Parts: sequence; structure tokens; C-alpha cells
Amino acid sequence: MNNVRQLMAPFPTRRKRRTKYERRSTKDERQATITYPTPLTEKYRPAGISEFLSLDRPKRVLAKFAQAPRAAAFVFVGPPGTGKTTMAQALAKTLGAELHHIASQKADVAAIDAVVTRCHYVPMFGADGWHVVLIDEADKMSSAAELALLSPLDSTAPVPNTIFIFTCNDTKGFERRFLSRCIVLEFSTKDLNGDLTAFLRRVWQREAPDDARVPDLDLIAHDAEGNVRDALNKLDLELLAA
Ligand SMILES: Nc1ncnc2c1ncn2[C@@H]1O[C@H](COP(=O)(O)OP(=O)(O)OP(=O)(O)O)[C@@H](O)[C@H]1O
Ligand SMILES: [Mg+2]
Repeated sequence: MNNVRQLMAPFPTRRKRRTKYERRSTKDERQATITYPTPLTEKYRPAGISEFLSLDRPKRVLAKFAQAPRAAAFVFVGPPGTGKTTMAQALAKTLGAELHHIASQKADVAAIDAVVTRCHYVPMFGADGWHVVLIDEADKMSSAAELALLSPLDSTAPVPNTIFIFTCNDTKGFERRFLSRCIVLEFSTKDLNGDLTAFLRRVWQREAPDDARVPDLDLIAHDAEGNVRDALNKLDLELLAA
């Protein structure tokens, strides 16, 4: 798997020693200058569809979809930390779309109405005319919000140039009529282990001090059970301990 792009990302900047003059600045100014190391999950977050580990089917489907996009609704379903939210962001980036991200628990009727209204206008960002509406943990949205989406998701009140993406760990929480308006795409990283160990090794080589003892990367990959976020968080901990 080619993660060269991420591996080329700059190191997080360390806080620099301030000069005497800088030390005299106000508290607010000082706070604005503090930079924190980036978590590995952010630093190595895939940006393009092809950069994800595993996920061969979603990558193939979405790469093809991006070549000839159309108004559509997807449900990305799969276990935590397999890349659903990140893949939605990568698709939006590939399409040059304006991304409207509704975080978990925020998808109520008012939020749905507002985003649907917004999507009837030309995007403010992105030159290619597409909106991507990303709703996380969508299976936990209220039934009123789900009902409010039924018409926008079918031909009775379609939203032009808009791709809806709902992420969830399970589709059981959705009504059948909602699901039947969506393309359900499964995110499975069952075949991940070897790739994940190799990926963790590249990250470790890049991030760890030269004399640090290499942790059991096979074990970290195995224990993560397909959850790349968990594996990277464990590696973050090992780096702190190194
Ligand atoms: N398939 C993958 N390839 C590479 N990195 C991944 C992959 N899946 C997850 N990650 C890493 O894990 C982090 C979290 O991924 P993301 O938030 O997209 O997972 P998720 O499937 O939406 O999880 P949840 O169900 O908990 O919301 C990403 O920032 C990325 O660093
Ligand atoms: Mg998510």
C-alpha cells in the first residue's frame, strides 16, 4: 500500500524557545503561538481514495463513482476506525466538492433542513459544483430527521449536485424505506493485518528516536482487530514511552 504521501508529511513542529522580547507578549498572544504535536491518526490520515489500507471494494466503487459523479446517497457501514468518515472526506476532496459535515448527534430536523436549503445553491467552495453532505453516526439520528430526509433522497424533492454520505457501525437503526434510498457500502478491514503491520513499521521508523526499542508491531496490529485508529493510538503511546 502506498502511503508515501503521508510518510512525506512534515514532522509536527516543537514549541520553540522564545526570545526575551517574545516572552513579554500578552497571554493571548502567547497562547496563539503554542503548537502541539499532531496525533498519528491526524498526521497519517489518508487524503485520497487510493491511500487507504485494505478497503479494496469501497476504494474501487468510489474511485469509479468519482469519475462520473451523480446525485446519490451512500451509507458507509462498518466497525469503528476503519476509515468511513475519512473516506467521505477523501471523496469530497476528489470531487472538489463543498463538504457539509454534520457531526454525530447533531443531525436533527433543523440541521437537515438547513443543509438541504444550502445545497440548492451553487457551492461556495470548490470549483466543480458538487456538495457532499456527511452525516456521522447517522443510525442514531432522530426518526424525525430520518423522515425529513426521505423526500430529498428520492425523486420527489431531489437535491441537485449533492451526494449524501451517512456513516454508521450498523444499519439496524435505520428504517427500511430510508435504507432503500441509499447505496450501502460495507467497510471491512478483515484482510488488514499484514498491511497494517507494515504501515505501523513505516510510521515507527519515521517517528521514533533511532535508539528506541521497536514495540511488537504484529501484536498491535493483531489486537486492533481491523481498527486502524486503535493501532495508531497504541503506537502514539509507544512513542511517548520510547
Ligand atoms: N483504512 C484505513 N487506512 C488508513 N488509515 C485509516 C483507515 N481507517 C482508519 N484510518 C485511520 O484512523 C483514523 C480514524 O478513521 P475514521 O474516523 O475515518 O474511522 P471511522 O470508520 O469513521 O470510525 P467510527 O466508526 O468510530 O466513526 C483516520 O484518521 C486514519 O488515521
Ligand atoms: Mg466516523
